Amino acid sequence: MRQKIRKAVFPAAGLGTRFLPATKASPKEMLPLVDKPLIQYSVEEAVGCGIESILIITGRDKTAIEDHFDISFELEQVLLERGKREMFELVRSVSELAKISYTRQKQALGLGHAIYQARDFVNNEPFAVLLADDVVDAPEKSALQQLIDVFEKYQSPVVATMRVEGEAISKFGVIDAEQIEPRVYRIKDMVEKPKYSEAPSDLAIVGRYIFTPDIFQFIERTEKGAGGEIQITDAMRLMVKEGKPFYAVELQGTRHDAGDKLGFLIATVEYALKHEELANDFKNYLKSLYERIR
Ligand code: UTP
Repeated sequence: MRQKIRKAVFPAAGLGTRFLPATKASPKEMLPLVDKPLIQYSVEEAVGCGIESILIITGRDKTAIEDHFDISFELEQVLLERGKREMFELVRSVSELAKISYTRQKQALGLGHAIYQARDFVNNEPFAVLLADDVVDAPEKSALQQLIDVFEKYQSPVVATMRVEGEAISKFGVIDAEQIEPRVYRIKDMVEKPKYSEAPSDLAIVGRYIFTPDIFQFIERTEKGAGGEIQITDAMRLMVKEGKPFYAVELQGTRHDAGDKLGFLIATVEYALKHEELANDFKNYLKSLYERIR
């Protein structure tokens, strides 16, 4: 039977050490990219792909995320009283985006361990995983939709990748793969954060995945890897080593690492330049800034 992707999991329990002190008391997924928190972009991406139910894996200080997607009666009341109907609709629409539930990863033991917390929610269905700090600006087709298209064809797990040049590859999980279609690969092996000289290719894994429920058995068998964490790449690797088909898509679009200070600044500029209300004024500001600093 061909299966549809109806569920999505959002791990948001990382410590966000690269973005301290901003992430000391608030999850990095709540950092605002222009006027929306990072996690709202990827929730909208998932909803746009037909995802019906969402599980957010939170760590400490989860309340900001829950509050964001909940109804805010007090705020709504004030907006209505002040005649700010449009703003009211905007605020209300966030709480109506999707059916969202939450679970806790008690300790940040790694992405593999975070995803493992979703096993009851997922039950026995294939599911998507989105990392909200990987922002993918894909004007034609969203990143998740690109993965879903491959899943629908091959009915096997799929991971998003992009090409990374030079030493920077060592920050990623990297695949060794055979191309089977334009932008689609069958994975032969993968490794988390390899040395540049040992990277099997320049195709780096980025934060969008589609898993089948058997991933949980492989996470159970995964030992601590890079950084002393249970790495999802290691669990995926076990799967591939046992001959399970696993695919990769080379994403069309631009990916920003918004969990990194510089990546976040770049994403902010790019998104501000596309923002309906801000684009013109911001462009003028950037032009004058350029004159000042060049
Ligand atoms: P990162 O690799 O960006 O780690 O996690 P991090 O801890 O969040 O941030 P840094 O590197 O210390 O700055 C990738 C994704 O996996 C989630 C994060 O929330 C992020 O979405 N994650 C990571 C968890 O949910 N739990 C973990 O134990 C680790």
